[in-house]
Amino acid sequence: MFQIKHLKYKDILDINELELDSARIYCLFGESGSGKSTLLKMFNGMLTPDDGEVLFKKEKITALDPVELRKEVVMLGQDPVVFEGTVRDNFLAGLRFSGKEEAADQELKTLLKELHLNKDLNDDAGNLSGGEQQRLAFGRVLLMNATVYLMDEPTSALDEDTEKAVMDYFTEMIKRKGKTVIMVTHSKEIAERYSDRIIYMDEILSKAGGYHE
Ligand SMILES: Nc1ncnc2c1ncn2[C@@H]1O[C@H](COP(=O)(O)OP(=O)(O)OP(=O)(O)O)[C@@H](O)[C@H]1O
Ligand SMILES: [Mg+2]
Repeated sequence: MFQIKHLKYKDILDINELELDSARIYCLFGESGSGKSTLLKMFNGMLTPDDGEVLFKKEKITALDPVELRKEVVMLGQDPVVFEGTVRDNFLAGLRFSGKEEAADQELKTLLKELHLNKDLNDDAGNLSGGEQQRLAFGRVLLMNATVYLMDEPTSALDEDTEKAVMDYFTEMIKRKGKTVIMVTHSKEIAERYSDRIIYMDEILSKAGGYHE
């Protein structure tokens, strides 16, 4: 699904080779500042390598239309975005931006329940707590029905029980629909529990001054 070849980006990333298959859940794991968020942004063309290339379905990402690419490869950023308006507006924002059909209230209510969000669709999103806003943005991305989900620490603001509920729901849906996930996490436990493969940043990065064997 994705191939990285001889990627260099500033003095942040230097990755000789990385291949990711479809219908898998990958976790990117590494210390703060190791380039996880930077790498994630390479997969939907938010960032472009200085050298080397990233291929999506065997095509260079730089040659693809970024708008079309981001409908297929959606991203939940490390700092979740909340728009002005209601919970419903926020859930539907992604679908509206990309011109996709809106989801019915019934589906949104199910989503509220699965994400353990005890809110009404008409509530003002601005009044939600940090962890609630994170789940709101999570739901917005899930609704996109994409091929690939790039998730940057999607549960970092959640308590353990809520995190588990959200991850159980998310990964069950992903497996059932045969989607692909690349997820950044600080939690070894989450990585081990939910991913098919853990990608350790210190293993894929070529060391400064040398090169990978
Ligand atoms: N636009 C930029 N210009 C220069 N340096 C940057 C830029 N963006 C990030 N960096 C640097 O690149 C390194 C990797 O940043 P990145 O955000 O990818 O790390 P991370 O692994 O996601 O960290 P965290 O776990 O704290 O989120 C950091 O040292 C950061 O300061
Ligand atoms: Mg990061």
